[in-house]
Amino acid sequence: MKNPFKFGTIVEGEYFTDRTEELESIKQLLNSDNHLILISPRRFGKSSLVKKAVTQVARPCISLNLQMVVSVEGLAAMILKEVFKLHPWEKLKHLLSSFRVVPTISTTPSGEAIDITFQATTDATVLIEDALQLVEKLSEKGESMVVVFDEFQELMGLDKGIDKRLRAIIQTQRHVNYIFLGSQESMMTEIFERKRSPFYRFGVLMHLDRIPHSNFSQYISERLSDNFVSKGNVVEQILATTRCHPY
Ligand SMILES: Nc1ncnc2c1ncn2[C@@H]1O[C@H](COP(=O)(O)OP(=O)(O)OP(=O)(O)O)[C@@H](O)[C@H]1O
Ligand SMILES: [Mg+2]
Repeated sequence: MKNPFKFGTIVEGEYFTDRTEELESIKQLLNSDNHLILISPRRFGKSSLVKKAVTQVARPCISLNLQMVVSVEGLAAMILKEVFKLHPWEKLKHLLSSFRVVPTISTTPSGEAIDITFQATTDATVLIEDALQLVEKLSEKGESMVVVFDEFQELMGLDKGIDKRLRAIIQTQRHVNYIFLGSQESMMTEIFERKRSPFYRFGVLMHLDRIPHSNFSQYISERLSDNFVSKGNVVEQILATTRCHPY
């Protein structure tokens, strides 16, 4: 029998269940000028849920995993790399000329950016500012973009005061929705709920929970073949063991 479940990566289509209310809330939010903060422990389904919402509202989206960058320059390069995946080089070329530190970009013959570097600069914040201003400009001219920061709490390790500077950039923008995902609950709460934090109450805060038992048991039962001996028992055993943890 083919495994009827998929785990470890983003799930969609038949592999995705429940989250109806959360999905509606996120879609509504994306149709407003607000930002979203989505917190849950690892592997509760943040990325899958956000991907589904963004797909359904048909908005261009870039996703930045802060666990994958070690410096502010690295983050700026990652933003540009993701933008390059959405827009052809020709369209971006003239916008890049306004960058204060012009990036060096190596591309594949098909125009895909493979490596982006910047000249050494004393203030790496301008790199982020220019990269995010590019996102804002593209959003202003076309469909407004969604920027997802995954494992956002990792930002704090990049540079001292980076949270203050990043907020200063984002808060002037009018055409981009930001989604902040995080799995370190205490750090995320510290960033978004502590009064003295630059990101204090910066968006709508949502906590993702386990999938409700009744919905999950119906879904698992539907996915399992009818030839399964004592299917009901198997479903209950699965849910008892996992305590409805989606992963
Ligand atoms: N709505 C869902 N329906 C069914 N399975 C789900 C759902 N959401 C998550 N899962 C299961 O959990 C796994 C992890 O999902 P996902 O990567 O979206 O979570 P995450 O919270 O972003 O994880 P991480 O903390 O690693 O970033 C999926 O591979 C899938 O097995
Ligand atoms: Mg994720």
